[in-house]
Amino acid sequence: MSILFEPTQIGRYTVRNRIFMAPMSRYRALEGGVNPKTTAEYYSQRASAGLIMAESTRINDWSGGINCPGIHTAEQVTSWKETTEAVHEKGSVIFLQLWHAGRASHESLMPKGRDVVAPSAIPIQQEVMIENGMATPTPPRELTLDEIAELRADYAHASRNALKAGFDGVEIHAAGGFLIDTFLQETTNKRNDQYGGSPENRFRFLREVVEDAIDIWGADRVGVKLSPTSQYNNVGDGNVLETFKYTISELNNYGLAFLEVNEEMPFTQLPPEKRAILDGLRGYWTGPYIGNGNYTAETGAQRINDNKATAITYGRFFLANPDLPERFRRNAELNELDVNTFYGGDHKGYTDYPFLNS
Ligand SMILES: Cc1cc2nc3c(=O)[nH]c(=O)nc-3n(C[C@H](O)[C@H](O)[C@H](O)COP(=O)(O)O)c2cc1C
Repeated sequence: MSILFEPTQIGRYTVRNRIFMAPMSRYRALEGGVNPKTTAEYYSQRASAGLIMAESTRINDWSGGINCPGIHTAEQVTSWKETTEAVHEKGSVIFLQLWHAGRASHESLMPKGRDVVAPSAIPIQQEVMIENGMATPTPPRELTLDEIAELRADYAHASRNALKAGFDGVEIHAAGGFLIDTFLQETTNKRNDQYGGSPENRFRFLREVVEDAIDIWGADRVGVKLSPTSQYNNVGDGNVLETFKYTISELNNYGLAFLEVNEEMPFTQLPPEKRAILDGLRGYWTGPYIGNGNYTAETGAQRINDNKATAITYGRFFLANPDLPERFRRNAELNELDVNTFYGGDHKGYTDYPFLNS
C-alpha cells in the first residue's frame, strides 16, 4: 500500500499523498449560505489528505440545496477564506466544487421569482431534503437560452470568487444527476436547440463552464467530476459509452488538473457490465485520474499500482476519520460512520470524530 503515500502531480500542484478527500455536502451552512466556524475546523482536521475537494457549493441563490454553502456573495468568500487558510496552514491543497442542483430541487428552496429548472421538463422521483424533512422534487421547467447564458455567467462568477477565497482550484460538478449531468445525459436532455441532441450539443454547457474556469484559473487548476454509470437522481444515458467517450475525449484536450470519476455509489456494487464500460472509458483520459467510490486502502492502492488511477478520493472514510492517512499507514481500526449526522445539525458527527490516541 506504500504507493498511497507517494507524492504525485495534480495539475500545478505536487501533493504529498494519493489519499484525497471526496466532496461531501454536510448541510450545515448558516443564513446567507455562509459557513459556521466549525467548517474551517472540519476541513483542517482532514488536511493530512493530499488534496481536499470541498463540498458542493452553490453558484447562485437558485442553485438549490438546503443549507448548502455558496460562493456567490462577498460574505461567503470571506467565510470560505477561514477554511482555505486553515487547510493551507497544515500544508494541504483544497479545491472547491461548484454546483447547481438542477431538477434535484424543490420550490421551497428557490428565491422569489425563480423556478426549479433543468435542460428539459422531466421530473424525478428521488426525494430531496427540504426544511421539514424529505420531499418529492418539484417538476422542473425547461431552461430558456437566456437562463443558460445566465447560469454560465454565474459559474464564471463563482470561479472568480473561489480564487478570491484562496482555493487552489475548482472542481466542476458534472456528476450525480445534478444540473450539468442532466445536460450530458440523453435521458434527461431532450432539447431541440444547440444544447441538446448529439453528444457534442449535450456537452456544450459543460464545455462553456470549463472554458470559462480555465480562463480564470488556467487548465492546471481546474478539474471535473463525472459519474457515467450512476443512476443517482434518476439519470441514465441510453448510450453511456458514446456520450462519455465524447465528453471525456473532449475534456482530455484541455490538459485539466484531473478527472474525478465516481465509479460506484456508496452502499452499492457496480455490475460487471458497467465496470466494463468504465474500463473502456478510462482509455480516453490521459491526465491525472482520480478514482472514487467504495475504495478501501487496499483496493485504492491496487488501482494505482495497476496504473488505472493516480489517486483516490475517499468520502465516507474521511468523513468519519479525520486522520485517515495515518490510520491507513498504521493499518489502524477506522471509526464507525454515523449516517444520522451526515446532513445538518451541529458539531456532532462533524468535528468530533476522534483522532487516533485521543
Ligand atoms: C454525506 C455525503 C455527502 C456527499 N456530498 C457530495 C457532494 O457534495 N458532491 C459530490 O460530488 N459528491 C458527494 N457525495 C459523494 C462522494 O463524493 C463520493 O462520491 C461517494 O461518497 C463515494 O465515495 P466513498 O465510497 O469513498 O464514500 C457525498 C457523499 C456522502 C456520503
